[in-house]
Amino acid sequence: MRAAARGFSAFAGAPPEGKVLVDQELVIRGGHPLKGTVRAHGAKNAALPIMAGAILTEGTTILHRVPHLKDVHTMGAILGALGVELEWTGPNSLRLTSPGAGGTVAPFDLAQRMRASICILGPLLATRGAAVLPLPGGCVIGERPIDLHLRGLRALGAEIKVDGTTISARAARLRGARVRMAGPRGSTVLGTANVLMAATLAEGQTLIEGAAREPEIQNLAHYLVACGAQISGIGTRRLLVTGRRRLKGAEHALIPDRIEAATFLAAGAITGGEVRVQDVCPAHMRATLRAMRRMGVETLEDERSLTAARKEPLRAAQLATAPYPGLPTDVQPQFSAMLCLAEGASVVTDRVYPHRFTHVEGLRLMGARILRTGSKGVINGVARLQGARVDAVDLRAGAALVLGALAAEGVSSITGLDHVDRGYQDLEHMLKALGADVARREASATPDRQRRSA
Ligand code: EPU
Repeated sequence: MRAAARGFSAFAGAPPEGKVLVDQELVIRGGHPLKGTVRAHGAKNAALPIMAGAILTEGTTILHRVPHLKDVHTMGAILGALGVELEWTGPNSLRLTSPGAGGTVAPFDLAQRMRASICILGPLLATRGAAVLPLPGGCVIGERPIDLHLRGLRALGAEIKVDGTTISARAARLRGARVRMAGPRGSTVLGTANVLMAATLAEGQTLIEGAAREPEIQNLAHYLVACGAQISGIGTRRLLVTGRRRLKGAEHALIPDRIEAATFLAAGAITGGEVRVQDVCPAHMRATLRAMRRMGVETLEDERSLTAARKEPLRAAQLATAPYPGLPTDVQPQFSAMLCLAEGASVVTDRVYPHRFTHVEGLRLMGARILRTGSKGVINGVARLQGARVDAVDLRAGAALVLGALAAEGVSSITGLDHVDRGYQDLEHMLKALGADVARREASATPDRQRRSA
């Protein structure tokens, strides 16, 4: 094992042969208004593409504010297997040194665990001229194609073959081109990241039209510029990239996790409490804060912190997700959980992921009146939820169930924490700091859904 990948293999490796990982559950006794202050971690969705971006550089990158999340550790282990040296130099500071040349075949067992592994494709093609990695499959939040990634990289001159489960790509030297990154559901976030990264080392200019404007993409672009890339139009839908022959490493801070912050503000609001999240960037959260206010939540902000307080009953609302600067799909399940306790009827439309309604079953087990019809969740608010045994089947659905449980009367247990741990560092410690009655333990029984069907 390379000493290089220190700090990663231990987290991301498969369990030793013959050992079964014991499922854990969060046990939450609801009904306590959450009050107090927590600090946001760095953004998972900025960390993943930026870590992959280190492949593009010659020299050393130091990233600050890197969260300790399963997905971050998996990305670290993938990069380690491709020859990138990684070392934690502080609690949340990570040094990455890319060797330039190196392997082009991603470790399939690791890359298959995480759809975001797709963002090594552009950097590997641009620096090593080839890449072989698993084709990300569909996932529980719906079909997640990568046609726009492939179309963009092909426009830069890559030859890409997809056979059932594997993507094999080659390129002698990428050439700048005009590329459109928007599809029927809007711009693709990681697709934009892939093409942007590839374009920084392509010959000539690349114009990316319909680029994703998400703060995480802006953060990636600023990292690349710090490494010597020439990019204009950062934060707009048109990115103009002039390719360089090489990039150096850089020191760079990740932006705060706006989805984690929104989830904690929602935890304050759904429990009738008051939660302040520090070290956030309120400018990244405008649509989220507007939606909260429409639900009757008071929000207060200063330069680096946000507070959500609920003094009145929650109000029903009509919400719809959209690419940034719209309401993020990554808060839709959590806000749906809040609306389950609002007075009146709400409709929540997910335009980005029309199938992202895996939170519905668990919330119904808690007594919510929520139904999915097509890309909409139709919610009739109830006065209270009751604790239940529920299963988190994906990350944000898990967050929604945690919120439901915090507000519910009685005890809930939530299994499927491996999904929740992909996106929330220290979840139960942060909730405890706000006064929640929550504990993590080995799972004692199957969730209600499974018991009922057994
Ligand atoms: N799409 C296409 N073709 C493509 C790519 C995407 O049609 O080639 C469609 C998707 O099916 C979807 C829409 O475009 O309907 C947006 O997908 P996008 O590509 O933007 O998603 P992503 O880049 O794979 C990132 C986040 C997700 C977040 C989405 C949307 C990371 C690591 N993941 O995924 O985060 O939901 O953008 O904002 O950045 C999460 O954190 O829970 C999460 C799922």
